Amino acid sequence: MSSHDLAATALALVADGKGILAADESTGTIKKRFDGIGLASTAETRRAYRQLLFTAPDFARHISGVILYDETLRQADDGGKPFPRLLADMDVLPGIKVDTGAKPLAGHAGETVTEGLDGLRERLAEYVALGARFAKWRAVIDIAAGLPSEGAIVANAHALARYAALCQEAGVVPIVEPEVLMDGDHGLERCEEVTARVLRAVFHSLNRQGVMLEGMLLKPNMVIPGKGCPDQASPERIAAATLRCFRQTVPAAVPGIVFLSGGQSAEEATVNLNAMNAMGPQPWKLSFSYGRALQQPALAAWGGQAANVARAQDVLRARAAGNGAAALGSYSVAMEAAG
Ligand code: 13P
Repeated sequence: MSSHDLAATALALVADGKGILAADESTGTIKKRFDGIGLASTAETRRAYRQLLFTAPDFARHISGVILYDETLRQADDGGKPFPRLLADMDVLPGIKVDTGAKPLAGHAGETVTEGLDGLRERLAEYVALGARFAKWRAVIDIAAGLPSEGAIVANAHALARYAALCQEAGVVPIVEPEVLMDGDHGLERCEEVTARVLRAVFHSLNRQGVMLEGMLLKPNMVIPGKGCPDQASPERIAAATLRCFRQTVPAAVPGIVFLSGGQSAEEATVNLNAMNAMGPQPWKLSFSYGRALQQPALAAWGGQAANVARAQDVLRARAAGNGAAALGSYSVAMEAAG
């Protein structure tokens, strides 16, 4: 795969009015989500749920790619068509989560480093054979008294860069996800300062490892106050702080920034993305790679009941349409009433 193909794939993922569905919950995380609707998590219920998502009407209209978990990449729809093929047939790019999770970082109480580099070259080769065109690796940075440490930031940035270089070697577009968590009572300014520190370290490492910026996407948090902060911010303040932070830290060669939702409500995630795109053209496309903000309303509407599949799919379609509009800066709350 040439560098041209990597760049073309990255651009396709941020095509106008489109974004990514993150449906790569690990077996442990999807169990938590299913617990919330009183549904047992089995390979079959997980398959049925992912099928519901991928076969929603108009799915490809606002969804450019789907991030899958290892198990899902190997599953198939009711008719026996493998999910990666089902997606590719709709011109939706199949992606794969390749990290193996955030583990306690030695010598750094309360901090983690994301693992999964051992054997990654071989795993990527298998994922490519199964149809994966892009990948995701999530690093987790927590804000607390005296944290994050420089040690945790550097360790995670290094791992992200090693992962991204291996992906590009395999012809896979890496989504580089350094997530600064929303947990805590810190204000917006503190989130901005930490996010900038993290992004500087991440791009320093990406450059050192020779990662081609045109052939990757960044998946960051928005600059937003902690969930417990009494001073919550308007979408305009969040958008202005996020853009200021990125303009200082994210090179213009990066084709797209696809946000995680990170615990924002579905509506907040849409409105905040829209506010950024309404502020005019930026050096990079700004779109979404949402998990909960796309899925949570649909999951609740489904409730694990076959009779609710069509209703749940309609809810997903509406969220995807709202976020597709937000990626263009043309979202309005009236769209929700219109469905
Ligand atoms: P959320 O949008 O629910 O944060 O999930 C996105 C994701 O892929 C986290 O790694």
